[in-house]
Amino acid sequence: MIEQFSDRTNMASNYQIVNQLDTKENFNEIHAFALHVLVGLSESKKSLSSKYFYNARGSELFRKISFLKEYYLTNSEIEILQSKVAEIEETMEDREFNLVELGAGFGRKTKFLVDHMLSSGLKFRYVPIDISEGSMDELVTELGKTNPELEVCGLVSDYYNGLKWLNNRYKSRNFVMFLGSSIGNFTHGESRVFLRNLWNSLNNGDKVLIGFDLKKDIELLLSAYNDSEGVTAQFNLNLLLRINEELGGEFDLNKFRYFSTYDLFAGGIKSYLVSLEKQEVYIEKIGRSFSFEPWEPIHTEYSYKYLVPDIERLASETGFLVEKHLFDSKRYFVDSIWKVYKPGNLLTE
Ligand code: AVJ
Repeated sequence: MIEQFSDRTNMASNYQIVNQLDTKENFNEIHAFALHVLVGLSESKKSLSSKYFYNARGSELFRKISFLKEYYLTNSEIEILQSKVAEIEETMEDREFNLVELGAGFGRKTKFLVDHMLSSGLKFRYVPIDISEGSMDELVTELGKTNPELEVCGLVSDYYNGLKWLNNRYKSRNFVMFLGSSIGNFTHGESRVFLRNLWNSLNNGDKVLIGFDLKKDIELLLSAYNDSEGVTAQFNLNLLLRINEELGGEFDLNKFRYFSTYDLFAGGIKSYLVSLEKQEVYIEKIGRSFSFEPWEPIHTEYSYKYLVPDIERLASETGFLVEKHLFDSKRYFVDSIWKVYKPGNLLTE
């Protein structure tokens, strides 16, 4: 596994980016994407995963969303990270640890935390993991300028391989952050699988901090995913553009529109791209075309919302002990800190 990663940079010794998507792995990436599109567009209920939103353009578009007034999630979480920083640091032990961030993006939220932790004298290595190479380059370069003394190891990878890499490489304590309600993109079943995989790659006593968007007034939820500038629409449509660019697709973006709604029974926002007319779309690298009926949807994203008891159940079902819940002043969002509980595992204590 490790051998396939290419250690690209080692310029300012403290900084490196390990790109898991390079070379051989990249070959698999594009095939996985093609297969995903083939399967997703062949079902009677068509779907594509929001996992594929985050190429360079998609990451930029999400950054734009995070500054929108309707998209309260980012500001709520920034408020938590800033106002509750002492409570977060309290849960970190004296021992040296890895501060791991899954889906770091441009690391906008973490910069404050990292600065604060450094000035509090905590000893840690920062390990951002993200699927987007562009945002990783920017994040690591930026941190190299502002915090040259910090050891940074950026992984360009998906979560699963990132965790595997981490587990093989470092046996030290981990504090893993999964911010921004990224977990909301998983169905409840997928969340359990993901958290159990996370638990598996961690040691007894390691901590995780997970951001959950809370259930709230439906109007607020709907407007967060239906912004007036249409950035969220572009963010979803970018997936079709990506298929055009990477797989030789012939999607006409003007023939699809974005639609999202709150499913009350499911407890989440569901997003779609809807075909505006009957059409056939050829995708060269898949070697076939796909037909769309007028008003036929492609499901693109889930953004599940939680209640505190749901979060506590999720933690205990996947092997974690809840340490604390940190809320913003409006109680829109919660960052929940959990401890890995592996009572039988004497070797890792
Ligand atoms: C980055 C996954 C948390 O689901 O709210 C923003 C992505 N989608 N607007 C979310 C997103 C539409 C976002 N996450």
